Amino acid sequence: MIIAQITDTHIRIPGKLAYRRVDTAKFLAAAVAHVNALDPAPDVIVMTGDLVDFALPAEYEHFAALIAPLKAPVFLMPGNHDGRDEMRQGFPAHRYLPRQGFLNYTIEDWPVRLVAVDTLIPGEGGGEVCDERLAWLKRTLAAAPKRPTVVMLHHPPFHTGISFMDGHDLKNADKFAAVIARHPQVERIIAGHLHRSIQCRVGGTVATTCPSPAHQIVLDLRTGATLGFAMEPPGYQLHVWNDGRLVTHTVTIGRFDGPYPFREPEGKLIS
Ligand SMILES: [Fe+2]
Repeated sequence: MIIAQITDTHIRIPGKLAYRRVDTAKFLAAAVAHVNALDPAPDVIVMTGDLVDFALPAEYEHFAALIAPLKAPVFLMPGNHDGRDEMRQGFPAHRYLPRQGFLNYTIEDWPVRLVAVDTLIPGEGGGEVCDERLAWLKRTLAAAPKRPTVVMLHHPPFHTGISFMDGHDLKNADKFAAVIARHPQVERIIAGHLHRSIQCRVGGTVATTCPSPAHQIVLDLRTGATLGFAMEPPGYQLHVWNDGRLVTHTVTIGRFDGPYPFREPEGKLIS
């Protein structure tokens, strides 16, 4: 089973650039083409929030048109730039999205169970797993203790050392980690929000964040550093379930020289 994760696409209305600089629509179209060309193809595509920039219906319409060519089933989650009701209204065919309340859900159709946790606090950059969402997570994980599971959320449940983002973190991350620690079936916690590939141990399992297919957050580990973005190579991740392990690959989107062989046609190493 291959899970493709695309995150933090930040789509605006047609013709508008994000932060007056980034053509996020063009970048998402490139990501869609890249994922569609994968061989083997992913079984499922998860999009872990900040789908659009201002939660406008016209932005979701644009986003929907851009992801329409994706060949594998797509599951959407909210980030701090999204709106729950706007997502429900924008994607009526996405029936896994609850019709009211938090956008928590599970997907049970593949060998790895997907558990999506909504961390949105409307109007805030940070996120939260409140008592109600924690209780849902506890019940949900307890219902299938033997199923290998990926828990998905927009805000990573750990600090990265990027000061500004650590100030817009996940509230109750310690309680979240305590729930995860009681459920060793959780193979991975996958997140977005950081626009970079980062790994950390949380609750005894591996937690990861995924690059954006558009702009990346600058890696600046100085305390109090100003937040900025840079046009580092765009990307996404593949979480591959094979032989009882989940392996995460970060994919760079672009055209690069190669592939070239290491060996001569007769097998000798090229010298
Ligand atoms: Fe975010």
